[in-house]
Amino acid sequence: MRRGRALSGSFAPPGDKSITHRALLFGALAGGMTRVTGANRGEDCARTAAAAKALGAAVETTSDGWRIEGTAGRLSQPASAIDCGNSGTTLRLTAGTVAARALDVHFTGDVSLSRRPMRRIAEPLVAMGATVEGQGEACTPPLRVRGARLRAIDYVLPMASAQVAGCTLLAGLAADGVTRVTLPGPARDHTERMLPAFGIALECDALAGGGRRVSVRGGQALAATDVRVPGDFSAAAFLLAAAACEPGARVTARGVNLNPTRTAFLEVLVEMGAEVRVANQRLETGEPSGDVTVSGPESLRAFDVPAAWLPRMIDEAPAWAIVAAAARGTSRLTGASELRVKESDRIATLAAGLAAVGVETEEHADGLAITGGRARGGGSIETRHDHRVAMAFAVLGARLEQPLAFDDVSSVPTSYPAFFDTLAALGAEVVHVSERA
Ligand code: S3P
Repeated sequence: MRRGRALSGSFAPPGDKSITHRALLFGALAGGMTRVTGANRGEDCARTAAAAKALGAAVETTSDGWRIEGTAGRLSQPASAIDCGNSGTTLRLTAGTVAARALDVHFTGDVSLSRRPMRRIAEPLVAMGATVEGQGEACTPPLRVRGARLRAIDYVLPMASAQVAGCTLLAGLAADGVTRVTLPGPARDHTERMLPAFGIALECDALAGGGRRVSVRGGQALAATDVRVPGDFSAAAFLLAAAACEPGARVTARGVNLNPTRTAFLEVLVEMGAEVRVANQRLETGEPSGDVTVSGPESLRAFDVPAAWLPRMIDEAPAWAIVAAAARGTSRLTGASELRVKESDRIATLAAGLAAVGVETEEHADGLAITGGRARGGGSIETRHDHRVAMAFAVLGARLEQPLAFDDVSSVPTSYPAFFDTLAALGAEVVHVSERA
């Protein structure tokens, strides 16, 4: 991939993936018809739609989303295993949903998902009374969840994970008593923002240090609603990062989700010297959105990301790495060991990719130190089935004279099917170089 003119223009990112997953699952649990518009139509959300269907909801594709006739809480036993593909969110949220019902469900996934730890959801679900069986110490998929009548728990998460919180709250919705979930940091809060639109009462208390406690009483019924999904900030971040890295570039993401639990990357870009402007702010189904414009400065300066910001940019680490590689000086990311259990071990995958383009990088147990400099093309990037690593290096490669080769970019459509077309429309020259099977 090589750049032509300076990147400029505007684009509408795909619908937010986290919000789409939740709208589909809540719609499947609700009584009545839920319409999800502006949805993310990538492969991950299609897995959740298929899971909803396998559990008895009537799910139809529309021009920009889905229509779901819900089960009014009466999920049915799937005929076969639910294949979650690459999607941890599909598996973790659906597991919480089935754990509170008389169902016996097997979950499978691709090679990436089959390496990811499910112990973190097994712990609360087993404490509530479900049976969860996975592989080995980390309880990796294939996973079997045998549901039961659950009792509420008061659960303090060991990590700031929205997926674990969402899983436990979904189980709690059908448990006896009040389930309380305490998050140690500011993980994304889409579950709590969307459940009230489906008629669920919950309490959310902010805690010192950015965490929160969420309480929900079991036995509440969800009522169908319409969900308009804003654009995905984590998808837009790659193209905003591309603009930040290039003097004179100016790119606008239209209608992007601006939930403050997601947008620390914008604060990082400002600290590094990029210009960030937000316009047309609005609220849709409890979620703020707006248009974000990033302009690239003459030169970017290095910045150490405070560890406390990480949960608010958990999916932006690959985009951050590309910006850090273009900055003057050494930028550091710490407190980020959660990155080791994403679609790939992102600390290792990013370090290896940066080494392949000649950028000085130190790999630490919980983060990275990247010294910006001239990256060189001609190398080969191993994406390890990780869509965000593929998109980050595509953006980096777009600035190089010599193209980069990728082992595989087939993971990109899991979250952003139109990514390469959008990158090209903004002015990058996207050359399909080589792809090994
Ligand atoms: C997600 C939460 C995050 C994020 C993932 C989607 C969600 O994971 O990395 O891409 O939709 O809840 P964790 O909550 O496990 O950090």
